[in-house]
Amino acid sequence: MRIILLGPPGAGKGTQAEFLSEYLNIPRISTGDMLRAAVHDDTNTIGHAVRTIMAEGRLVPDELMIQLIEDRIQNEDCRKGFLLDGFPRTLFQAEALEKSGIAIDKVIQIYVPDSEIIQRLSGRRIHEPSGRIYHIKNNPPKKDELDDITHEPLIQREDDKEETIKKRLQVYHHQTEPLIQWFQQYNYSLVRVEGVGKVDKIQENIRSVL
Ligand code: AP5
Repeated sequence: MRIILLGPPGAGKGTQAEFLSEYLNIPRISTGDMLRAAVHDDTNTIGHAVRTIMAEGRLVPDELMIQLIEDRIQNEDCRKGFLLDGFPRTLFQAEALEKSGIAIDKVIQIYVPDSEIIQRLSGRRIHEPSGRIYHIKNNPPKKDELDDITHEPLIQREDDKEETIKKRLQVYHHQTEPLIQWFQQYNYSLVRVEGVGKVDKIQENIRSVL
């Protein structure tokens, strides 16, 4: 199975990707997590180049993202398939994927209105080393501000400030949303799943469309 998860920031792509990756036994490839890991590695040149772009809620240049994904999907663990969370995000990236000849089985669009996003993202906490995602109200950790598995502290993402969230939403509508039409035009199997409601219920809906 090769799957693309598409949706605005805070739609729950990462949350659903955690479950889907386990359910289908395929790796989750989160471009956001890969870039954040690079930013936190002081010796990483990509990290230096993208730090400000990410903090401001803008998109990292296409060429860099395409190279990152091309390298990642060569890995042995992608032979049985993979789940793309955060790529492609522009028409240029989608065209590069199309040109590479890699067949995609399903594009899952998670739909959440903008009105829900700010509440979701301002309450999000993450365990950075693993990418595990929590929400202070909707999906709290067992112990306040600590990861359930490692008991390490959770953090708030730098781009989860209200102003930056608004910018990221703008970028999504302008640069990423047009991909929905593009996927339809190129006959990808695209399904839309409502992303508001209980996480378990959304998981069930995704399972049924697969
Ligand atoms: P990235 O990390 O990919 O961020 P994003 O797409 O903006 O998505 P998020 O991670 O914010 O949200 P999500 O949909 O995964 O939601 P989550 O499950 O966490 O990218 C970050 C940056 O990297 C970009 O801005 C860009 O600079 C750069 N970048 C990455 N890829 C790129 C690319 N291809 N090209 C160029 N630049 C790129 O859920 C959010 C919160 O809601 C959580 O707290 C969660 O617990 C909660 N929640 C989840 N589901 C529900 C529910 N059903 N009900 C209530 N709460 C819920």
